[in-house]
Amino acid sequence: MRHFIFILGREAFLAAAELQAVLKRGVNHSDFIVDKNWVTIKSADDEKIIGNLINILGGTIKIGVQVSDGNWQDSIVDDLEISPVRDVGISVYGEKFDRAKVFEIKSKSSKKIRLVLPKADGILNEAEIRANKLLKTGREYLVANNIAYKTLAVQDANAWAERDFGKPRSDAKSGMLPPKLARMMVNLAASQNQKSKIKDQNDKSKLKNFENCKLKIENYDFVVFDPFCGSGNVLIEAMMLGLNVVGSDISERAVEDTKENLIWLNQKLKIKNQNDRVKIKIEKKDATKLTANDLPKEDFVIVSEPWLGEPRRHKLTIEEEKIAVEEISKLYLDFLENFSRISNCKLQTANCRLSLVFPLFELANGQKLSIFEKIVDKIKNFGYIIESQPFLYGRDYQIVKRQIVLLNLKRKTQS
Ligand SMILES: C[S@@+](CC[C@H](N)C(=O)[O-])C[C@H]1O[C@@H](n2cnc3c(N)ncnc32)[C@H](O)[C@@H]1O
Repeated sequence: MRHFIFILGREAFLAAAELQAVLKRGVNHSDFIVDKNWVTIKSADDEKIIGNLINILGGTIKIGVQVSDGNWQDSIVDDLEISPVRDVGISVYGEKFDRAKVFEIKSKSSKKIRLVLPKADGILNEAEIRANKLLKTGREYLVANNIAYKTLAVQDANAWAERDFGKPRSDAKSGMLPPKLARMMVNLAASQNQKSKIKDQNDKSKLKNFENCKLKIENYDFVVFDPFCGSGNVLIEAMMLGLNVVGSDISERAVEDTKENLIWLNQKLKIKNQNDRVKIKIEKKDATKLTANDLPKEDFVIVSEPWLGEPRRHKLTIEEEKIAVEEISKLYLDFLENFSRISNCKLQTANCRLSLVFPLFELANGQKLSIFEKIVDKIKNFGYIIESQPFLYGRDYQIVKRQIVLLNLKRKTQS
């Protein structure tokens, strides 16, 4: 058993929940411990398998394995004796970066090393790690709670940015769900599906041509359904995991945007072989009026950002608050009520999980307006179970933040 560390992104609470959900799908592990902005686990799995999780997770920035039991300086010095490298990067988490202590490593080591030190915050970012080839010919050590870990994998910032800004179509007006958030939401929803085990891509996986993703979800008949698909950010991230996708939107333009973006992704991933393709279906539909026939035939989860309302430049006045509650709640309630009605005869499994974004507004009176809290009782009355407290996603200055809510709709038993 070895200890591994997962350094989490900005929304550490959500990222930890995502990690827990993904680990449950097929990584042997114990002692899942959440600390400041990282998680540690114990696992007997190969470090390559654990490192490859970086390709699955949206909320994890770095993954490392513990070097030894000693204090961090001695561990690093010993590790460099056993397997020397010239370029050594050090990132310190959770406490002040103490340059003197870091430089002691150089004097204690019998090897010739070049220290690569962070410019800001005591933490090397992906660009600095890449520029100094620390994961290729050098090494980065992560220090947390006086323990040293060797970095196994770092999130590929360019690949995420390319899906965020490089895709052919996006629609700023209807809001752009950040890809990392979309990925976390897909992972949180997909964990419910017992069959969606992850497996090492080095196996004879159907999806071996995927460049960026070494671990996939195994159950290929599993579908991610986004009934408010916009320009397709949820479906793009589901496809990155090798999942089949079904999307719909009331707007013709959104349907075309999503289709074009998914074709772009297929080309990027260089999927030439028909067997390697995931199934894609995108249609124009009103999500509040779906019928049972519109739902995917396979097991599915719903992952979606229905509506955050109009873009806001200032905190909402009392009058604006009233209108927002009325308009936005109506859309969510109409959709959820209709879905609970039509899904019963259609669900393959005993239940269906939904991972949804609800808006959270800053009000001019200093309070907050949570659309979810306004309508949670009605949602429960439709038969949904609230699976977790809402996860907050947003920066302090944002007037409209997001709350991520996991719902579970139990199939009603026939009497
Ligand atoms: C916030 S956007 C979705 C963003 C999307 N998740 C993405 O990342 O690109 C909301 C979408 O819901 C669609 N929409 C609004 N009302 C709808 C309805 N009744 N049925 C289906 N789609 C609807 C809008 O056209 C818009 O594209």
